[in-house]
Amino acid sequence: MRRALLLGLICLGAAWLLGHAAAPPPPDTARVALGWRLLADRRLSVGRNFSCLDCHRPGQGYADGKPVATADGINTPTLYGLAERTTFGWFTPEVPSLEAFILRPLDNPREMGPLAEATLDRLRADPEARAAYAAAFPGAGQGITWERTAQALAAAIRTIPSPPTGALTPAAARGQTLFAEVGCGGCHQGATLSSEAYLNTGVSADLSRNGGKARVPSLIGLSQTAPYFHDGSAATLEEVVRFYQRGGNAPGPGVSRGVSPIVITDAELRDLVSYLSSL
Ligand code: HEC
Ligand code: HEC
Repeated sequence: MRRALLLGLICLGAAWLLGHAAAPPPPDTARVALGWRLLADRRLSVGRNFSCLDCHRPGQGYADGKPVATADGINTPTLYGLAERTTFGWFTPEVPSLEAFILRPLDNPREMGPLAEATLDRLRADPEARAAYAAAFPGAGQGITWERTAQALAAAIRTIPSPPTGALTPAAARGQTLFAEVGCGGCHQGATLSSEAYLNTGVSADLSRNGGKARVPSLIGLSQTAPYFHDGSAATLEEVVRFYQRGGNAPGPGVSRGVSPIVITDAELRDLVSYLSSL
């Protein structure tokens, strides 16, 4: 009898401990966890054929290794460093936030869209997904919505750590000095080496998007994110530096004067590439 009582107490204690261990995580943590699940969830695309991470591949610097992703003709940028950025997308200065940008691939028929309630109904029918949204957005609410989906995705993307950087090799250190000397830092500056400005460097002659003005990209994780430029037209970092060496492509209408020929030797070019590869 005594023994049964003791056993009962032990069971109660264990249940209490378990109950506490299973206490819900704070909403911020739950939101990030939900966001990571959604980044990999193909149910979010109308055709169930794409998740975010199918184009933003973790093993390829959150890019995809292709010149352009879709018939839109635009290169997939990395997702590194977005917590530090205030502008999003190659040609979309009007987009006010990361959350707002994320609705674009979800709505774009050439990516995952268009946005439809029927797509969200797949998640609404899944008890696990319902519980994950409820933990991430506690309190009275509207359940599973596109807005909350974008909020969770943005929360997860902001937690992506930048790749670790070691001490610079002598060549990379010389490249860093050159980077400043030849004026790269005029546009590539700050935490992610982007001024967040939009300008036309003459990469392509297509003026249809934002008057040809591309956002200065971040330079984080460059060694993983080839090919480069908004149209993927530079296959390697050496090609990028050669582009700047010759002062961009043939000057066209609206091309920024910030890009003009720079005089560097082949050895210096290699130093610059070493520096860019180390970022
Ligand atoms: C078919 C490939 C593809 C899929 C799927 C895709 N993306 Fe992208 N992503 C791109 C391309 C291409 C761009 C550049 C678009 C632009 O600049 O307008 C981009 C840009 C972005 C950016 C802006 C990055 C920056 O540097 O400003 C974010 C954030 C982003 N995508 C998040 C997502 C999320 C979240 C999903 C899933 C809901 C997703 N993407 C799905 C190809 C894709
Ligand atoms: C006048 C501003 C400006 C200057 C100066 C400048 N850049 Fe850029 N950089 C840009 C813009 C804008 C883009 C995007 C161009 C595009 O894709 O249309 C870019 C793109 C790049 C990219 C490609 C990144 C990617 O993810 O695709 C690299 C690498 C780069 N620049 C390195 C440099 C180096 C090295 C220098 C100095 C030799 C330099 N930049 C000077 C504005 C500038």
